[in-house]
Amino acid sequence: MAKVCCCSSIGNPPGSRKIVEAGGRSIGVYNHDGQFYALRNVCPHQGAELCKGLIKPLVVSKGPDHFEYEREGEIVRCPWHQWEFDMKTGCMIVDPAMRTKTYEVTVETFGVTVEEGQVVVHM
Ligand code: FES
Repeated sequence: MAKVCCCSSIGNPPGSRKIVEAGGRSIGVYNHDGQFYALRNVCPHQGAELCKGLIKPLVVSKGPDHFEYEREGEIVRCPWHQWEFDMKTGCMIVDPAMRTKTYEVTVETFGVTVEEGQVVVHM
């Protein structure tokens, strides 16, 4: 399992996405309401950089002339052909068998001090 070390509440606030390199792979790390999710930045359709796509809600309908939004900010839309993926599972919305890899995300915090005008991160 690749370990992704990139996030902080400052650098990746809720509702945001950050694309990082880890283990030779490009990975999109999403902060959804303080929970972090990571997806491989490769669309299983034709290989676009999936994580450069928009973050959207799920659009559902009970029939003609009706739609509503659910799961605000949980759907990643591929920038090339607009396929949509669940950021929590990596599964395509209309065909869950089609998916991109997900990664476990852990958040570590470090102490910070200012010494002689410089910010020092204690790791
Ligand atoms: S490459 Fe992502 S939908 Fe086609």
